[in-house]
Amino acid sequence: MNGGGEVQVLSVCGSLQERSANRAVLDVVGAAIVDEGAHVDRYDDLGDLPPFNPDLDEPGDAVRDWRARIEAADAVVIASPEYAGSLAGVVKNALDWIVGSGELYRKPVGLISAGTSGGYHARRVLVQTLTWQGAHVVASLGIDAPKTKSDARGVITDRPTITDLAAFARLVVRAASRNARWRLDLVRTVVTDAGVDPEHIAPLE
Ligand SMILES: Cc1cc2nc3c(=O)[nH]c(=O)nc-3n(C[C@H](O)[C@H](O)[C@H](O)COP(=O)(O)O)c2cc1C
Repeated sequence: MNGGGEVQVLSVCGSLQERSANRAVLDVVGAAIVDEGAHVDRYDDLGDLPPFNPDLDEPGDAVRDWRARIEAADAVVIASPEYAGSLAGVVKNALDWIVGSGELYRKPVGLISAGTSGGYHARRVLVQTLTWQGAHVVASLGIDAPKTKSDARGVITDRPTITDLAAFARLVVRAASRNARWRLDLVRTVVTDAGVDPEHIAPLE
């Protein structure tokens, strides 16, 4: 929580494209998070992170900033494109940078993938890698055919999609503020649905 007692949510855009469906859905999610009385920190700098190298003892400012922004958040939302049946490489690279430092350990995370098919495979792999590094993935939402749900500028305008994204935002904020057992029930459902062994879920204590 920040000084004002608000839940802080870090919103991470996994696309480097200037015009991005994933960034467009994060616009909607960010507004809904604010409507829930929480604060949003938007992280759009994945392209600044160097390729992960465990030999680097001093990884530099971009990695330090990435780790600090996660550390300061009560919950994280990641929106990743699906490329060739998996998550975007820049997202995996960023997650590799925090395996050792552990900023996501037991942190609630909500996943979205906007793209052709709704990014089922990107989200499945993300659930696996996040769970293996101890994050609590509380929600996973696919937005398929985003162009059909947007206006000419790429802004999401489809009402049912906006409703789904608002429900997703509400759940992430609640997962950060409500009791941890309720959160763990959500995590078990997401992890099991993704076909990942629930044995890998980080315990509450
Ligand atoms: C190289 C490449 C590979 C892609 N592979 C997939 C894929 O495997 N599955 C899928 O649903 N969409 C795939 N897409 C479509 C992207 O997910 C889609 O363009 C999405 O909107 C990209 O995210 P962005 O708009 O936020 O940049 C691919 C696109 C590119 C450029």
